[in-house]
Amino acid sequence: MNLTRQAQRVLTDNLSLEDALPTRMPVYVSSVAYLWGVAALSALAALIGSGVVLAVFGPDWYHLSRVGHFVNSVHFWSVQVFFAALVLHLVTKYLMAAWRDGRWKTWMVGALAMAVAFFTGLTGFLSQTNWDAQWIAVQAKDAMNALGVGAFFNTMDTGQVLTLHVVVLPLALSLLVGLHLFLVRREGPVVPIDSEGRDEQAN
Ligand code: HEM
Repeated sequence: MNLTRQAQRVLTDNLSLEDALPTRMPVYVSSVAYLWGVAALSALAALIGSGVVLAVFGPDWYHLSRVGHFVNSVHFWSVQVFFAALVLHLVTKYLMAAWRDGRWKTWMVGALAMAVAFFTGLTGFLSQTNWDAQWIAVQAKDAMNALGVGAFFNTMDTGQVLTLHVVVLPLALSLLVGLHLFLVRREGPVVPIDSEGRDEQAN
């Protein structure tokens, strides 16, 4: 069987079109508790979009031109919004015990995505190569050595850090977030704890 057929089978066995792009959602989904995941996702889209532009045009452009400064700022502020939304997403899903009814996989993939996001943030900070970044690189090098991963992940190697930040980690994060969303849509939204068993519908 070829790869395309296999991918088709995995998708159609697990996700109907109505699951993937629902036209009706349970009424409790209009609560703010279901908002932060989408907020984090939107910030991630802005982050990746602005990051690609920065990588294509390079540091001279984003340090010295007005438009470059603007795109650089979009990237910076998207990070702030992304992590703020992510923390709110984690806290609300924790308080809702959103891992109920087989959603533990969604939870675990989310946690893994968050860990990858932390390293993407760290390598982004280091890629600035300013004084702050150099200081953090030296301190983080000690931490990586203490963890025993210093031979693979050298925070003082700018080439390695930039490749991780621009290629490897964003790809890994996108794949994990894609899997997270696939699981979210396959399982459907978790019912609020106090309405367990009720099946309310709204447009
Ligand atoms: C890395 C970035 C992440 C993105 C972009 C993201 C995105 C989303 C989105 C769009 C949803 C559906 C809407 C919602 O309920 O808010 C969702 C649901 C969910 N997320 Fe995340 N998420 C991320 C990280 C996490 C983390 C760190 C956890 C927990 C450790 C987590 C656990 C969950 C769970 C359990 C659900 C299902 C909730 C339900 O069924 O209602 N997510 N996520």
